[in-house]
Amino acid sequence: MKLAGNTILITGGGSGIGRGLAEAFHQSGNQVILAGRRQSMLDQVTAVNPVMQAVTLDAANPVAIREFGNIMSEQFPDLNVLINNAGIQAVESLQTQSEDLAEVEAMVTTNLLGPIRLTVALLPLLQRQQDSTIINVTSGLAFLPGAFVPTYSATKAAMHSYTLSLRYQLRGKTDILEVIPPYVQTDLGPNHGKDSRAMPLNEFIAETMAILRNEPAATEIVVERCKPLRFAAESGNFHAAFEGLNRAMG
Ligand SMILES: NC(=O)c1ccc[n+]([C@@H]2O[C@H](COP(=O)([O-])OP(=O)(O)OC[C@H]3O[C@@H](n4cnc5c(N)ncnc54)[C@H](OP(=O)(O)O)[C@@H]3O)[C@@H](O)[C@H]2O)c1
Repeated sequence: MKLAGNTILITGGGSGIGRGLAEAFHQSGNQVILAGRRQSMLDQVTAVNPVMQAVTLDAANPVAIREFGNIMSEQFPDLNVLINNAGIQAVESLQTQSEDLAEVEAMVTTNLLGPIRLTVALLPLLQRQQDSTIINVTSGLAFLPGAFVPTYSATKAAMHSYTLSLRYQLRGKTDILEVIPPYVQTDLGPNHGKDSRAMPLNEFIAETMAILRNEPAATEIVVERCKPLRFAAESGNFHAAFEGLNRAMG
C-alpha cells in the first residue's frame, strides 16, 4: 500500500495498537478516522490530533455496522483503507467454565464476525477508489495457540484463514495485509500494559511502520519478536514451542 495520501478507518483506534497505528499513519500524511465504542477514548486521541475524525461503532452489532457503512459512504467518500483492529481477549479456564458463555461468544462476535461484517459493508466503497487496502490485525497466537486464551486464539486463527481467502478473491483489486502482533504492552488484558515480557507499544508500532515502508510487497507484517510464533510450524519445532509458550504464560 502507499503510505501517504490515504483515507484510513481504524477500528479500536481509541487505544493501544489501533491508536498507535492511527497516530503513525496520521504523521505519515494520511487522513485518519477512528472507530470504537467509547467516545471518551476517541476524544482523548482527537484532542491531541485535532485533524483526525472519530465515529462511534460497536463492531459486535451487525445493525450498527450496516448503518456505519452508510455513514462512511456519505461522510468519507474517499475512504480507501480499512484496518480491522478492534478486538477483545478473555482468559478461560475450561475445567471450571460456567455455562454462561457470553464472554466467549463476545470474542467470536467482536474478533471474527466484526471484521467479516465490516469488510462486507465497506468493500463497495473501498473498491470505488483507485487503490484500496484492507489490513487485518490478527495475532501470533493465531499460529501458536495460547491455551490460556483458547477462544481468542481460535478467532485469530480463523481471521488468518479468512484473510488468505480474501486476498485470493480480491487479487488485482484490493490489497489485503495481515499485521501479526506478538505480545504487546496495551490494555487488551489486565496485565498486558505492565508485563515486561510484552513488547513496548511504541517499539511495535515503529517496527511495523518500518516493515510497511521498507517491504512494500509484504503481505504479512511480522516484527522480529513475533517470528518464533508465526513460524513455529515451519521451524519443525511446533510442539516444543507450544509447550514452551504455554508453560511461560501459564
Ligand atoms: N496487545 C497484544 O498483546 C496483542 C497481541 C496480538 C494481537 N493483538 C490484537 O491487536 C488488536 C488491538 O488490541 P490492543 O492490544 O491494542 O488492545 P486494546 O488497547 O484493548 O484495544 C482494543 C480496541 O478495540 C476496541 N473494541 C473492542 N471491542 C469493540 C467493539 N465491539 N466495537 C468497536 N471497538 C471495539 C476498544 O475500544 P472500545 O472498548 O472503546 O470499543 C479498543 O480501543 C486486537 O485485535 C488484539 O487482538 C494484540
